Amino acid sequence: MAKIIIENLNNKEVSSTDNSKSVLDIIHENGIDWMHACGKNGRCTTCKLIVVEGAENLSPIGEVEQKLFEVGKLMDGERVACQAKVHGDIKVRVAEKNKFPHMEYTA
Ligand code: FES
Repeated sequence: MAKIIIENLNNKEVSSTDNSKSVLDIIHENGIDWMHACGKNGRCTTCKLIVVEGAENLSPIGEVEQKLFEVGKLMDGERVACQAKVHGDIKVRVAEKNKFPHMEYTA
C-alpha cells in the first residue's frame, strides 16, 4: 500500500493498493480537488506535485514528463500528478500557483 501525504493540505493522507493508477487519480478518487487543466495529458503542469519526501517511490520519469523538464516546465523535485504513479509512501505539496481559491491550504 502506498500513502500520499499532502503537506500543505493539513497533511491530508490518502492511500492506494493499486500502483497502476496515477497520483492524480488517487487524489481525485479520495474527493480532493486538484488542478488538471489539460485533462491529464501531461501538457499543462497545473497538476504539478512538489515532492517533499519519497521521490524514489514514484514511477520513473517517462517521455511526457521528460519533455516538461526539457522545456523548463518542471524543475528538480517536481513531477506531474497525472503521469507519476506511486509505489510507496510520498509526501507532496500543492504548488503555490496551482492552489484553488475555494480551498484552505496550510503552511
Ligand atoms: S493535468 Fe495537465 S499535466 Fe497533468
